[in-house]
Amino acid sequence: MKGNLPIEQLRNVETPFYYYDTALLRKTLDTINTEAGKYAGFHVHYAVKANANPKVLDIISKAGLGADCVSGGEILAAVKAGFKADKIVYAGVGKSDKEINIALDADIFCFNVESVPELDIINELAEKKNKIARVAFRINPNVGAHTHANITTGLAENKFGIAMEDMESIIVHAAELKNVEFVGLHFHIGSQILDMGDFIALCNRINELQDSLETHHIKVANINVGGGLGIDYEHPNRVPVPDFKEYFETYANHLRLREGQQLHFELGRSVVGQCGSLITRVLYVKQGTAKQFAIVDAGMTDLIRPALYQAYHKIENISSDEPIESYDVVGPICESSDVFGKAVDLNKCHRGDIVALRSAGAYGEIMASQYNCRRLPEGYTTEDLC
Ligand code: LLP
Repeated sequence: MKGNLPIEQLRNVETPFYYYDTALLRKTLDTINTEAGKYAGFHVHYAVKANANPKVLDIISKAGLGADCVSGGEILAAVKAGFKADKIVYAGVGKSDKEINIALDADIFCFNVESVPELDIINELAEKKNKIARVAFRINPNVGAHTHANITTGLAENKFGIAMEDMESIIVHAAELKNVEFVGLHFHIGSQILDMGDFIALCNRINELQDSLETHHIKVANINVGGGLGIDYEHPNRVPVPDFKEYFETYANHLRLREGQQLHFELGRSVVGQCGSLITRVLYVKQGTAKQFAIVDAGMTDLIRPALYQAYHKIENISSDEPIESYDVVGPICESSDVFGKAVDLNKCHRGDIVALRSAGAYGEIMASQYNCRRLPEGYTTEDLC
Protein backbone atom coordinates (compact mmCIF):
# COMPACT_ATOMS: atom_id res chain seq x y z
CA MET A 1 0.00 0.00 0.00
CA LYS A 2 1.20 3.49 -0.78
CA GLY A 3 -0.95 6.60 -0.63
CA ASN A 4 -3.64 4.21 0.64
CA LEU A 5 -3.61 2.48 -2.76
CA PRO A 6 -3.03 -1.26 -3.32
CA ILE A 7 -0.07 -1.05 -5.67
CA GLU A 8 0.19 -4.82 -6.23
CA GLN A 9 -3.35 -4.97 -7.60
CA LEU A 10 -2.95 -1.85 -9.69
CA ARG A 11 0.42 -2.70 -11.21
CA ASN A 12 -0.74 -5.25 -13.76
CA VAL A 13 -3.73 -3.41 -15.16
CA GLU A 14 -3.54 -1.60 -18.48
CA THR A 15 -3.24 2.14 -17.84
CA PRO A 16 -4.71 4.71 -17.71
CA PHE A 17 -7.75 3.78 -15.63
CA TYR A 18 -9.79 5.00 -12.70
CA TYR A 19 -9.60 3.09 -9.46
CA TYR A 20 -12.46 3.41 -6.94
CA ASP A 21 -11.83 2.52 -3.31
CA THR A 22 -15.23 1.07 -2.44
CA ALA A 23 -14.51 0.77 1.29
CA LEU A 24 -13.97 4.53 1.38
CA LEU A 25 -17.08 5.17 -0.72
CA ARG A 26 -19.17 3.04 1.69
CA LYS A 27 -17.68 4.79 4.70
CA THR A 28 -18.50 8.17 3.14
CA LEU A 29 -22.09 7.08 2.47
CA ASP A 30 -22.46 5.77 6.04
CA THR A 31 -21.26 9.10 7.38
CA ILE A 32 -23.74 10.98 5.18
CA ASN A 33 -26.61 8.77 6.34
CA THR A 34 -25.62 9.12 10.00
CA GLU A 35 -25.14 12.88 9.91
CA ALA A 36 -28.16 13.75 7.74
CA GLY A 37 -30.21 11.18 9.67
CA LYS A 38 -29.86 13.28 12.82
CA TYR A 39 -32.36 15.77 11.42
CA ALA A 40 -35.99 15.06 10.58
CA GLY A 41 -36.89 15.76 6.98
CA PHE A 42 -33.34 15.88 5.55
CA HIS A 43 -33.01 14.03 2.22
CA VAL A 44 -29.77 13.55 0.30
CA HIS A 45 -29.72 13.09 -3.47
CA TYR A 46 -26.54 12.10 -5.22
CA ALA A 47 -25.58 14.43 -8.11
CA VAL A 48 -25.11 11.83 -10.86
CA LYS A 49 -23.13 14.31 -12.95
CA ALA A 50 -20.13 13.82 -10.64
CA ASN A 51 -19.68 10.15 -11.58
CA ALA A 52 -22.08 7.85 -13.41
CA ASN A 53 -19.94 4.73 -13.42
CA PRO A 54 -22.57 1.94 -13.01
CA LYS A 55 -20.59 0.24 -10.21
CA VAL A 56 -20.35 3.49 -8.30
CA LEU A 57 -24.04 4.27 -8.88
CA ASP A 58 -24.99 0.81 -7.67
CA ILE A 59 -23.24 1.32 -4.31
CA ILE A 60 -24.78 4.78 -3.86
CA SER A 61 -28.31 3.67 -4.73
CA LYS A 62 -28.00 0.73 -2.31
CA ALA A 63 -27.10 3.21 0.44
CA GLY A 64 -30.57 4.70 -0.09
CA LEU A 65 -29.70 8.12 -1.49
CA GLY A 66 -31.91 9.79 -4.06
CA ALA A 67 -30.55 11.03 -7.41
CA ASP A 68 -30.08 14.51 -8.79
CA CYS A 69 -30.05 14.40 -12.59
CA VAL A 70 -29.38 17.01 -15.26
CA SER A 71 -30.30 15.11 -18.42
CA GLY A 72 -32.56 12.37 -19.73
CA GLY A 73 -29.49 10.16 -19.96
CA GLU A 74 -28.78 10.62 -16.27
CA ILE A 75 -32.40 9.82 -15.36
CA LEU A 76 -32.19 6.57 -17.35
CA ALA A 77 -28.82 5.73 -15.74
CA ALA A 78 -30.20 6.44 -12.26
CA VAL A 79 -33.32 4.33 -12.78
CA LYS A 80 -31.20 1.51 -14.20
CA ALA A 81 -28.92 1.67 -11.15
CA GLY A 82 -31.93 1.21 -8.88
CA PHE A 83 -32.53 4.75 -7.63
CA LYS A 84 -36.20 5.09 -6.74
CA ALA A 85 -38.12 7.35 -9.13
CA ASP A 86 -39.79 9.15 -6.24
CA LYS A 87 -36.32 10.21 -5.06
CA ILE A 88 -35.16 11.61 -8.42
CA VAL A 89 -34.96 15.35 -9.03
CA TYR A 90 -34.19 16.81 -12.43
CA ALA A 91 -32.53 20.19 -13.05
CA GLY A 92 -31.05 21.89 -16.12
CA VAL A 93 -31.53 25.17 -18.01
CA GLY A 94 -32.14 23.42 -21.32
CA LYS A 95 -34.36 20.38 -20.91
CA SER A 96 -35.40 19.05 -24.33
CA ASP A 97 -38.92 17.72 -25.00
CA LYS A 98 -37.49 14.23 -25.27
CA GLU A 99 -35.83 14.54 -21.88
CA ILE A 100 -38.96 15.97 -20.25
CA ASN A 101 -40.92 13.01 -21.61
CA ILE A 102 -38.35 10.58 -20.18
CA ALA A 103 -38.81 12.23 -16.77
CA LEU A 104 -42.61 12.17 -17.07
CA ASP A 105 -42.60 8.50 -18.08
CA ALA A 106 -40.34 7.63 -15.13
CA ASP A 107 -42.64 9.54 -12.71
CA ILE A 108 -39.75 11.32 -11.04
CA PHE A 109 -40.27 13.22 -7.79
CA CYS A 110 -39.73 16.69 -9.17
CA PHE A 111 -38.53 18.93 -12.01
CA ASN A 112 -36.31 21.80 -10.92
CA VAL A 113 -37.62 24.37 -13.37
CA GLU A 114 -35.40 27.20 -14.49
CA SER A 115 -37.69 29.48 -16.58
CA VAL A 116 -41.31 30.32 -17.42
CA PRO A 117 -41.11 28.96 -21.00
CA GLU A 118 -39.78 25.67 -19.61
CA LEU A 119 -42.66 25.51 -17.12
CA ASP A 120 -45.18 26.00 -19.93
CA ILE A 121 -43.63 23.21 -22.00
CA ILE A 122 -43.58 20.80 -19.05
CA ASN A 123 -47.27 21.60 -18.49
CA GLU A 124 -48.05 21.00 -22.17
CA LEU A 125 -46.14 17.70 -22.36
CA ALA A 126 -47.63 16.49 -19.06
CA GLU A 127 -51.12 17.26 -20.36
CA LYS A 128 -50.50 15.07 -23.42
CA LYS A 129 -49.67 12.21 -21.09
CA ASN A 130 -52.52 13.04 -18.75
CA LYS A 131 -50.09 13.50 -15.89
CA ILE A 132 -49.37 16.12 -13.29
CA ALA A 133 -45.69 17.08 -13.08
CA ARG A 134 -44.36 18.15 -9.70
CA VAL A 135 -42.20 21.25 -10.10
CA ALA A 136 -39.81 23.22 -7.91
CA PHE A 137 -38.48 26.56 -9.05
CA ARG A 138 -34.76 27.08 -9.17
CA ILE A 139 -34.23 30.52 -7.76
CA ASN A 140 -31.01 32.39 -8.37
CA PRO A 141 -30.23 33.64 -4.85
CA ASN A 142 -27.50 36.04 -5.94
CA VAL A 143 -25.15 34.56 -3.35
CA GLY A 144 -21.49 34.26 -4.34
CA ALA A 145 -19.33 31.31 -3.39
CA HIS A 146 -15.62 31.36 -2.64
CA THR A 147 -14.65 28.96 -5.38
CA HIS A 148 -13.42 28.90 -8.99
CA ALA A 149 -15.32 31.34 -11.25
CA ASN A 150 -16.25 28.51 -13.64
CA ILE A 151 -18.09 26.60 -10.92
CA THR A 152 -19.99 29.36 -9.15
CA THR A 153 -23.62 29.34 -10.23
CA GLY A 154 -25.71 31.44 -7.85
CA LEU A 155 -24.86 34.97 -9.00
CA ALA A 156 -27.36 37.19 -10.81
CA GLU A 157 -25.08 37.16 -13.88
CA ASN A 158 -25.14 33.32 -14.18
CA LYS A 159 -27.42 31.59 -16.69
CA PHE A 160 -29.01 29.37 -14.03
CA GLY A 161 -32.36 29.77 -12.36
CA ILE A 162 -35.11 32.35 -12.02
CA ALA A 163 -34.47 35.83 -10.62
CA MET A 164 -35.71 36.36 -7.06
CA GLU A 165 -37.99 39.20 -8.19
CA ASP A 166 -39.80 36.77 -10.51
CA MET A 167 -40.29 34.03 -7.93
CA GLU A 168 -43.80 34.96 -6.86
CA SER A 169 -45.16 35.55 -10.33
CA ILE A 170 -44.00 32.12 -11.54
CA ILE A 171 -45.60 30.46 -8.51
CA VAL A 172 -48.87 32.29 -9.27
CA HIS A 173 -48.56 31.33 -12.95
CA ALA A 174 -48.01 27.65 -12.04
CA ALA A 175 -51.23 27.69 -9.99
CA GLU A 176 -53.10 28.56 -13.19
CA LEU A 177 -51.70 25.60 -15.09
CA LYS A 178 -53.56 22.29 -14.86
CA ASN A 179 -50.75 19.80 -15.33
CA VAL A 180 -48.08 21.06 -12.97
CA GLU A 181 -48.03 21.16 -9.19
CA PHE A 182 -45.77 23.58 -7.32
CA VAL A 183 -43.92 21.60 -4.65
CA GLY A 184 -40.81 23.55 -3.76
CA LEU A 185 -37.92 25.93 -4.23
CA HIS A 186 -34.48 24.95 -5.43
CA PHE A 187 -31.10 26.67 -5.03
CA HIS A 188 -27.47 25.90 -5.82
CA ILE A 189 -24.65 28.39 -5.32
CA GLY A 190 -21.62 26.55 -6.68
CA SER A 191 -19.21 23.71 -6.16
CA GLN A 192 -16.05 22.93 -4.12
CA ILE A 193 -17.19 25.19 -1.28
CA LEU A 194 -15.30 24.80 2.00
CA ASP A 195 -16.35 28.00 3.70
CA MET A 196 -19.52 27.30 5.69
CA GLY A 197 -20.17 31.05 5.58
CA ASP A 198 -21.26 30.66 1.95
CA PHE A 199 -23.92 28.14 2.93
CA ILE A 200 -25.00 30.37 5.83
CA ALA A 201 -25.44 33.23 3.33
CA LEU A 202 -27.69 30.94 1.29
CA CYS A 203 -29.71 30.01 4.40
CA ASN A 204 -30.21 33.68 5.24
CA ARG A 205 -31.40 34.41 1.74
CA ILE A 206 -33.85 31.49 1.79
CA ASN A 207 -35.18 32.68 5.17
CA GLU A 208 -35.87 36.12 3.70
CA LEU A 209 -37.58 34.66 0.64
CA GLN A 210 -39.74 32.38 2.78
CA ASP A 211 -40.77 35.31 4.98
CA SER A 212 -41.84 37.24 1.93
CA LEU A 213 -43.82 34.30 0.51
CA GLU A 214 -45.55 33.82 3.84
CA THR A 215 -46.91 37.34 3.77
CA HIS A 216 -48.65 36.25 0.56
CA HIS A 217 -49.85 32.99 2.15
CA ILE A 218 -47.79 30.86 -0.22
CA LYS A 219 -46.77 27.52 1.30
CA VAL A 220 -43.64 25.66 0.18
CA ALA A 221 -43.47 21.92 0.87
CA ASN A 222 -39.82 21.33 -0.10
CA ILE A 223 -36.62 23.33 -0.01
CA ASN A 224 -33.69 22.05 -2.06
CA VAL A 225 -30.34 23.68 -1.32
CA GLY A 226 -28.34 21.94 -4.07
CA GLY A 227 -24.85 20.64 -3.44
CA GLY A 228 -21.42 22.20 -3.34
CA LEU A 229 -19.61 20.82 -0.30
CA GLY A 230 -15.92 20.66 -1.19
CA ILE A 231 -13.23 18.07 -0.51
CA ASP A 232 -9.61 18.38 0.64
CA TYR A 233 -7.60 17.97 -2.56
CA GLU A 234 -4.34 18.64 -0.71
CA HIS A 235 -4.80 15.90 1.87
CA PRO A 236 -6.72 12.94 0.45
CA ASN A 237 -5.24 10.59 3.06
CA ARG A 238 -5.69 12.80 6.08
CA VAL A 239 -9.21 13.96 5.19
CA PRO A 240 -10.73 11.14 3.14
CA VAL A 241 -14.28 11.88 4.33
CA PRO A 242 -15.54 15.48 4.17
CA ASP A 243 -16.97 17.09 7.29
CA PHE A 244 -20.62 16.19 6.79
CA LYS A 245 -21.35 16.78 10.47
CA GLU A 246 -20.47 20.47 10.17
CA TYR A 247 -22.24 20.73 6.80
CA PHE A 248 -25.63 19.38 7.88
CA GLU A 249 -25.36 21.17 11.23
CA THR A 250 -24.88 24.45 9.38
CA TYR A 251 -28.21 24.01 7.61
CA ALA A 252 -29.93 22.75 10.76
CA ASN A 253 -28.77 25.82 12.67
CA HIS A 254 -29.28 28.53 10.07
CA LEU A 255 -32.20 27.56 7.87
CA ARG A 256 -35.63 28.21 9.39
CA LEU A 257 -37.65 25.31 8.06
CA ARG A 258 -41.41 25.65 8.30
CA GLU A 259 -43.69 23.06 9.90
CA GLY A 260 -43.38 19.75 8.02
CA GLN A 261 -41.08 21.24 5.39
CA GLN A 262 -38.62 18.78 3.82
CA LEU A 263 -35.02 19.75 3.08
CA HIS A 264 -33.19 18.28 0.10
CA PHE A 265 -29.47 18.23 -0.73
CA GLU A 266 -27.76 17.38 -4.02
CA LEU A 267 -24.23 16.28 -3.19
CA GLY A 268 -21.80 15.14 -5.87
CA ARG A 269 -18.12 15.82 -5.29
CA SER A 270 -18.24 15.24 -1.52
CA VAL A 271 -19.76 11.76 -2.08
CA VAL A 272 -17.36 10.35 -4.67
CA GLY A 273 -14.39 12.72 -4.96
CA GLN A 274 -11.95 11.12 -2.54
CA CYS A 275 -12.64 7.47 -3.39
CA GLY A 276 -11.32 7.76 -6.95
CA SER A 277 -7.79 7.97 -8.34
CA LEU A 278 -6.63 8.12 -11.91
CA ILE A 279 -3.88 5.54 -12.28
CA THR A 280 -1.32 6.11 -14.99
CA ARG A 281 2.11 4.86 -15.98
CA VAL A 282 5.31 6.82 -16.65
CA LEU A 283 6.19 6.49 -20.33
CA TYR A 284 9.30 8.61 -20.42
CA VAL A 285 11.40 10.76 -18.15
CA LYS A 286 12.63 13.62 -20.28
CA GLN A 287 15.36 16.02 -19.29
CA GLY A 288 14.46 19.54 -20.53
CA THR A 289 16.87 22.47 -20.41
CA ALA A 290 15.44 23.91 -17.22
CA LYS A 291 13.37 21.08 -15.79
CA GLN A 292 12.58 17.41 -16.08
CA PHE A 293 9.31 16.00 -17.30
CA ALA A 294 7.52 12.86 -16.28
CA ILE A 295 5.48 12.00 -19.37
CA VAL A 296 2.60 9.75 -18.35
CA ASP A 297 0.09 7.78 -20.43
CA ALA A 298 -2.97 9.61 -19.02
CA GLY A 299 -3.85 12.96 -20.46
CA MET A 300 -6.36 15.76 -20.24
CA THR A 301 -8.75 13.49 -22.13
CA ASP A 302 -8.87 11.26 -19.03
CA LEU A 303 -8.89 14.04 -16.42
CA ILE A 304 -9.64 17.50 -17.73
CA ARG A 305 -9.91 19.37 -14.41
CA PRO A 306 -6.31 20.68 -14.28
CA ALA A 307 -6.51 22.00 -17.86
CA LEU A 308 -10.04 23.40 -17.53
CA TYR A 309 -10.03 24.87 -14.01
CA GLN A 310 -6.32 24.90 -13.11
CA ALA A 311 -7.44 22.36 -10.52
CA TYR A 312 -4.95 20.77 -8.15
CA HIS A 313 -4.80 16.99 -7.83
CA LYS A 314 -2.22 15.44 -5.53
CA ILE A 315 0.17 13.33 -7.62
CA GLU A 316 2.10 10.38 -6.17
CA ASN A 317 4.56 7.89 -7.62
CA ILE A 318 3.17 4.86 -5.83
CA SER A 319 5.74 2.39 -7.16
CA SER A 320 8.91 4.10 -5.95
CA ASP A 321 10.50 4.96 -2.60
CA GLU A 322 13.55 6.62 -4.11
CA PRO A 323 14.49 10.18 -3.09
CA ILE A 324 12.20 13.02 -4.11
CA GLU A 325 12.84 14.93 -7.33
CA SER A 326 10.89 17.68 -9.03
CA TYR A 327 8.94 16.97 -12.23
CA ASP A 328 6.44 18.60 -14.51
CA VAL A 329 3.91 15.82 -14.94
CA VAL A 330 2.45 15.95 -18.44
CA GLY A 331 0.25 13.83 -20.68
CA PRO A 332 0.62 12.77 -24.33
CA ILE A 333 -2.13 14.97 -25.84
CA CYS A 334 -1.21 17.52 -28.49
CA GLU A 335 -2.21 20.52 -26.37
CA SER A 336 0.08 22.69 -24.24
CA SER A 337 -2.51 22.66 -21.47
CA ASP A 338 -2.13 18.89 -21.12
CA VAL A 339 -0.25 19.32 -17.86
CA PHE A 340 -1.27 17.68 -14.57
CA GLY A 341 1.16 19.55 -12.37
CA LYS A 342 4.29 21.69 -12.48
CA ALA A 343 7.31 21.26 -10.20
CA VAL A 344 5.68 18.28 -8.51
CA ASP A 345 7.71 16.48 -5.84
CA LEU A 346 7.73 12.79 -6.70
CA ASN A 347 9.80 9.81 -5.68
CA LYS A 348 12.34 9.44 -8.49
CA CYS A 349 10.52 8.30 -11.62
CA HIS A 350 11.50 5.58 -14.06
CA ARG A 351 9.77 4.34 -17.17
CA GLY A 352 6.95 2.00 -16.08
CA ASP A 353 6.37 3.55 -12.66
CA ILE A 354 2.78 3.79 -11.50
CA VAL A 355 1.55 7.28 -10.73
CA ALA A 356 -1.75 8.15 -9.03
CA LEU A 357 -3.69 11.37 -9.46
CA ARG A 358 -5.71 11.50 -6.30
CA SER A 359 -9.18 12.88 -5.45
CA ALA A 360 -10.34 12.18 -8.99
CA GLY A 361 -13.59 10.35 -8.23
CA ALA A 362 -15.74 13.38 -9.02
CA TYR A 363 -15.85 15.01 -12.46
CA GLY A 364 -13.03 12.76 -13.63
CA GLU A 365 -14.10 9.67 -15.57
CA ILE A 366 -17.42 11.26 -16.51
CA MET A 367 -15.75 14.24 -18.19
CA ALA A 368 -13.34 12.10 -20.22
CA SER A 369 -13.25 12.52 -23.99
CA GLN A 370 -11.87 10.67 -26.98
CA TYR A 371 -9.88 13.57 -28.39
CA ASN A 372 -6.87 12.27 -30.36
CA CYS A 373 -8.88 9.05 -30.97
CA ARG A 374 -8.06 7.82 -27.52
CA ARG A 375 -10.08 5.14 -25.77
CA LEU A 376 -12.17 6.23 -22.79
CA PRO A 377 -10.57 5.24 -19.46
CA GLU A 378 -11.90 2.14 -17.72
CA GLY A 379 -13.16 2.38 -14.15
CA TYR A 380 -12.35 -0.45 -11.72
CA THR A 381 -13.45 -0.89 -8.14
CA THR A 382 -11.58 -2.61 -5.30
CA GLU A 383 -13.66 -5.74 -5.94
CA ASP A 384 -12.78 -5.81 -9.66
CA LEU A 385 -9.07 -5.99 -8.88
CA CYS A 386 -9.11 -8.55 -6.06
N1 LLP B 1 -26.87 20.56 -7.96
C1 LLP B 1 -26.72 21.38 -9.03
C2 LLP B 1 -27.87 22.12 -9.53
C3 LLP B 1 -25.46 21.48 -9.65
O1 LLP B 1 -25.33 22.28 -10.70
C4 LLP B 1 -24.36 20.75 -9.15
C5 LLP B 1 -23.05 20.81 -9.78
C6 LLP B 1 -24.57 19.91 -8.03
C7 LLP B 1 -25.83 19.86 -7.45
C8 LLP B 1 -23.46 19.08 -7.41
O2 LLP B 1 -22.47 19.88 -6.91
P1 LLP B 1 -21.27 19.26 -6.03
O3 LLP B 1 -21.87 18.74 -4.73
O4 LLP B 1 -20.64 18.20 -6.80
O5 LLP B 1 -20.39 20.42 -5.79
N2 LLP B 1 -17.02 19.96 -13.33
C9 LLP B 1 -16.77 20.85 -12.21
C10 LLP B 1 -17.92 20.89 -11.25
C11 LLP B 1 -19.22 21.32 -11.88
C12 LLP B 1 -20.37 21.32 -10.93
C13 LLP B 1 -21.66 21.53 -11.65
N3 LLP B 1 -22.81 21.50 -10.81
C14 LLP B 1 -15.47 20.40 -11.51
O6 LLP B 1 -14.83 19.47 -12.00
O7 LLP B 1 -15.05 21.00 -10.53
